[in-house]
This record gives sequence, C-alpha cells and structure tokens, in this order.
Amino acid sequence: MAGLILGIETSCDDTAAAVVSADLRVHANVVSRQLEAHDRYGGVVPELASRIHTSEIMPVVARALDEAGVAGPDLSAIAVTRGPGLAGSLLVGISAAKALSLAWGIPLIPVNHLDAHLASAHLGDEPVAFPCLVLLVSGGHTMLARMDGPTALSVLGRTRDDSAGEAFDKVARMMDLGYPGGPVIDRLGATGTPCIDLPRPMLHSPDLDVSFSGLKTAVARHLRAEPDTAVPDLCASFTAALMDVLDKKLRKALKAGDYQSISVVGGVAANRVLRARLAALSASRGVRICMPPRGLEMDNGAMIAAAAWLAGGPEAAGGLRFGAAPNLALGAPA
Ligand code: KG4
Ligand code: ZN
Repeated sequence: MAGLILGIETSCDDTAAAVVSADLRVHANVVSRQLEAHDRYGGVVPELASRIHTSEIMPVVARALDEAGVAGPDLSAIAVTRGPGLAGSLLVGISAAKALSLAWGIPLIPVNHLDAHLASAHLGDEPVAFPCLVLLVSGGHTMLARMDGPTALSVLGRTRDDSAGEAFDKVARMMDLGYPGGPVIDRLGATGTPCIDLPRPMLHSPDLDVSFSGLKTAVARHLRAEPDTAVPDLCASFTAALMDVLDKKLRKALKAGDYQSISVVGGVAANRVLRARLAALSASRGVRICMPPRGLEMDNGAMIAAAAWLAGGPEAAGGLRFGAAPNLALGAPA
C-alpha cells in the first residue's frame, strides 16, 4: 500500500509505533508505557528504559503493522526520533528503524522529537491556521512560539528552569504520588479546591518567559509546615498557580500578534484545567484552538510520522548515516 509512514518513538520511557497516511490519518497507534518499571524510583532510570525498549520495540512495531493491515515492505517510509532524548533509548529506536529500512528496502527519515510534538496538533480535528501561536508543554520543554508555517518557528518565551511537566513530576514525587506525576495531580486535583495560597512566579514580568522552580519550592515548604494538608487541595492549588501563569502568558502573546489559531502540544496539554482554560480563551477571543487528539498529547509514534510527512515525506529521506542526537535543539534539522 502506498502513502503510509511507520513512525517509531523511543526517546524516553515509551516504546511507540504508529502508521500514518499522507493525509495525516492515524491507521494504527501502539504505545507500550514503562510506568511500573520506573515508578518505584520516582523517575525514569535511563539504563532500565533502554533495556525495556530493546524487548518491546519489535512487538510494538508488529502490532502497529497488524492494526493498520499493512506489510513492512509496502510502507512508503519509516520515520524515527533522532533526538532530543536519552542516548540509550534513542539508539534502540534508531537501530531497529535502520534494520527494518534495510530489510524492507524503504527509506528512513530522522525526526526531531520537538518538531514532532508541534506536528501532533495537525493530527487533531481543527486544521492549524497560520500564523499560529504555539504552547509546547512537555516533560522536557516549556515554550511559547510563533509559527508562520508547519516548519517556520520563532521562539517567543521559554522556561528559565523547570518545564511544566517536570514541575508536575517533582511535586508529585514530594507527595509520594508516583511517576509520571502530571496525570495523578490532574486526577486528584479535580476532587480538591485551590484553597492554598501559592506564588505565581513571573506572572507580571514584561517578557513571555516562565519559571516554575519557586512554585515547586513553595509546595515543598507548605508540605513541611503542614504535613497533614489535604493532598487533593494541594494538587488543585499547585495546578491553579501553574495554569494562571501559562494562561496569562498565552493571553499576553495573543494580544501582541495576528494569530489565526493557537496550538497546544506536549504531555501537559492533556491536563483538564488547562483544557478548560483554553476553551474559555477560545470562547472569549474567538480564536481556534488546535490540539492533538486525546491520547496523542504524550509521546507516540503518530506524531513522529506526522512530522515526517510535514517535512516532505519519503522524499525527505537522506540515508542511514545518522546517529542519536540526545541534545538536538528545537527547530534543528534532524
Ligand atoms: O510530551 P511528553 O509525553 O514527554 C516529553 O517529551 O517530555 O510529556 C510528559 C509530561 C510528564 O511530565 C507528565 O507528568 C506530563 O507530561 N503530563 C501531564 C498530564 N499528562 C501528562 N501533566 C499535567 N496533567 C496531565 N494530565
Ligand atoms: Zn515528548
């Protein structure tokens, strides 16, 4: 079958493969999450992650092909995350992708993981209209940017310390809620009230940068002072403080540009408080919000294949002479 790309993602702790057609329809999406393996350590253990990728990668690819009803040699290309991410984890995906590319005789396209998060908005129902204001909120990055086309990006602001996802994960760890912390804090916070007074760092700063380490420290201080505090209330209060900052910066950026849409991508885009605020922003400003479909906010293979299509598809493939790029920057060619 022509016109299908297999996307492979192994940059952190999820082993993922998906099949996506040129019209960005997702025909199969398989993710094997390593949650329990890392949970007891309170964070991802790189060596453990690469070992699990090694045993998971081929079954995950096989399931994706099976669900899409396509045989490997009939694909148009394979796309794989080259970076940024954990070196060992990236290597597993890249090695598997190279072997399959040779075995099936099809091209291989390296992809920048951050570009792939940006591309994930194109998998949603709302078409992304440019210029687009982008909020990337993942475990590794927090950034506001302007996009004038699918690959034309200029950064407007970023975090000065922790990313939003990292702040969720670290705060969850302080409360012994397990890893990753975002989904747990989201769930528990929905049953609490944001009644605890926490700082909103850089809320009124003139730029579009953010900082979450002060907020994280304030949560730690609160826990020391009031160890019996109600966990759902603390989750709700922390989320409200963090979202107040993101909301404010988003509105400020929106005012300064001629944006046709807002796209919000990365794991934290799954957060229900953020989604409610975006709905309110959309209603009050009449601007379209573009997000990945539910379940494709966190790392997955579909966004890797989507990024490969947006970068030119199989024509963009350049051979197998590339390695892992753990520190690949946003916007850097993969
Ligand atoms: O984009 P992603 O899968 O990985 C990176 O590329 O970093 O994002 C993972 C991050 C984790 O920090 C996780 O705690 C956070 O996204 N996350 C959430 C939610 N779901 C995932 N944070 C807040 N609320 C959620 N519902
Ligand atoms: Zn990611």
